[in-house]
Amino acid sequence: MRSHYCGELESGLIDREVSLCGWVHRRRDHGGVIFIDLRDRSGLVQVVFDPDRADIFALAEQVRSEYVLALSGRVRARPEGTENPDLPTGQVEVLGLSLQVLNAAETPPFQLDEHGADTSEEVRLRYRYIDLRRPEMQERLRLRSRITQTLRNFLDAHGFLDIETPILTKSTPEGARDYLVPSRVHPGEFYALPQSPQLFKQLLMMSGLDRYYQIARCFRDEDLRADRQPEFTQLDIETSFLDEAQLTELMEQMVRELFASVLEVALPEPFPRMTYAEAVRRFGSDRPDLRVPLELIDVADLMGEVEFKVFAGPAADPEGRVAALRLPKGGALTRKEIDDYTQFVGIYGAKGLAYIKVNDWSAKGREGLQSPILKFLPDSAVEGIMARTGAEDGDLVFFGADKATVVNEALGALRVKLGQDRGLMEAGWRPLWVVDFPMFEKEPHTGRWMALHHPFTAPKEAQLDQLESDPGSCLSRAYDLVLNGTELGGGSIRIHREEVQRSIFRLLKISDEDANDRFGFLLNALKYGCPPHGGIAFGLDRLVMLMTGSHSIRDVMAFPKTQTASCLLTDAPSTVDEAQLKELALRIKLRA
Ligand code: AMO
Ligand code: AMP
Repeated sequence: MRSHYCGELESGLIDREVSLCGWVHRRRDHGGVIFIDLRDRSGLVQVVFDPDRADIFALAEQVRSEYVLALSGRVRARPEGTENPDLPTGQVEVLGLSLQVLNAAETPPFQLDEHGADTSEEVRLRYRYIDLRRPEMQERLRLRSRITQTLRNFLDAHGFLDIETPILTKSTPEGARDYLVPSRVHPGEFYALPQSPQLFKQLLMMSGLDRYYQIARCFRDEDLRADRQPEFTQLDIETSFLDEAQLTELMEQMVRELFASVLEVALPEPFPRMTYAEAVRRFGSDRPDLRVPLELIDVADLMGEVEFKVFAGPAADPEGRVAALRLPKGGALTRKEIDDYTQFVGIYGAKGLAYIKVNDWSAKGREGLQSPILKFLPDSAVEGIMARTGAEDGDLVFFGADKATVVNEALGALRVKLGQDRGLMEAGWRPLWVVDFPMFEKEPHTGRWMALHHPFTAPKEAQLDQLESDPGSCLSRAYDLVLNGTELGGGSIRIHREEVQRSIFRLLKISDEDANDRFGFLLNALKYGCPPHGGIAFGLDRLVMLMTGSHSIRDVMAFPKTQTASCLLTDAPSTVDEAQLKELALRIKLRA
């Protein structure tokens, strides 16, 4: 039926007879001649039908957008002056010699050319099979396929085995809620869908498989954002007998080769590294976007004599933070813009956004500053702030004062937003390893210790005895790979001794009984010859999102879900009939 793809036709094929299959992208009637732009996966080509061939001309008159055609014709040069330099096949056209309508189509709900560009995402998702016909969507999926293929080739060449792990399984804690599946055979019991293959990949190391990888689907019931989906894909990796330096070096090499081969981009070698503490101090975030040249600067120690409670309180609080963020040329911000940024940091819990506009510090000193908080600041504080931030005439300095977590989130996000809004974002790719994470963080409401990564992450060797006495100061052997402000991957060296794993569970207030119940299989396995091991998982969707320059991971998934975790195409989730519930021994009781 087909000799060529539409997009392959070029001048070298002139005078050849070709057969094509595809969709009618557009049909135009011009002075008794019919033009059809025929589209397939590879692109578009113009097909011309002359009235001389009355039978196929009549048929060509009947076709409409998105009809599926098979046709044959002769490739010829386009008449002079009608070439289309924007189209790869724009030098040629096909004179139609035969035409078969394989299928008619109703008028699509949106146009697939530039006129359909601002179709709402809701409509696009409802008719995803049509949306995916658009060249940019096809290009993204093609690139995704190339990326996974390149990653597979690298891992295969480095001795990794592709091994599948179960989807119907037991809960794997990664900090989200589980998706549960009721068992028919065991009434009242549930499988959990994996939040990651974490425990299985560790077991594979205990089985001696040494190097594992999987392109693994993971399921997490959590609040969704542009870079989070309830089901997403990880490139999941685990190795035995490598330490964190060796593992991160190998992974870096993989990412560098990927960028070189797919995007022809040379990433730095080696990737820079930064401790978690430094990242949070300088950027307010453990996934700093290094393209933004703005940094948080601590000023709490300058607030000793400041009577402004908003600043003095957090300055004296060991869990507080008072930080400044200097925006070069920020003096140009309008009142409205500052109000908008104040509202923006409010999303992160900040109760305000104090600022100093530096109008003319060099000549007028204090008089040359403009600020709602100036009256609260003694000269020493003002001078300290100006010296430390390096602010110059024309700049603006923002301030955050609150619990450190609030200041970090608020100013960390503001830093990136200012970078975007004020054109400060440097071009290029800025990968970063973030290392030396704390083992634990305190849950704000209960004050309970929680694992910052997951509870199978090994503590730094030297700190084993510190675990119980001072958990807050323990660092872990975890690492995250950050790229342009997105957390691309995270992993760690794991605990491979049963007694350490048990003591971590105890610290996390998981009782022995509970631990045996939930992770007994792992604790047992640790007794039977477990090698030192560690690994990492990359968010494949996020990687493809960044590499294709997309704004959301939804744009690089064929069939994504909405912000409310539903699939508009299939209408999932949906109710099931009574018989099915009965078989599963379930009864629905909706909250009023
Ligand atoms: P983690 O939970 O950090 O680690 O996940 C690894 C990477 O997966 C991506 N990711 C997501 N992508 C899209 N939607 C989501 N909801 C989502 N959640 C996470 C991120 C993240 O960096 N088992 C460990 C890995 C290990 O220790 O080896 C784990 O799952 O890019
Ligand atoms: P107020 O005393 O509420 O009028 O605040 C004076 C200035 O301090 C305003 O510019 C507020 O936006 C700012 N502000 C209030 N609370 C905070 C805070 N927690 N961190 C930073 N700035 C604040």
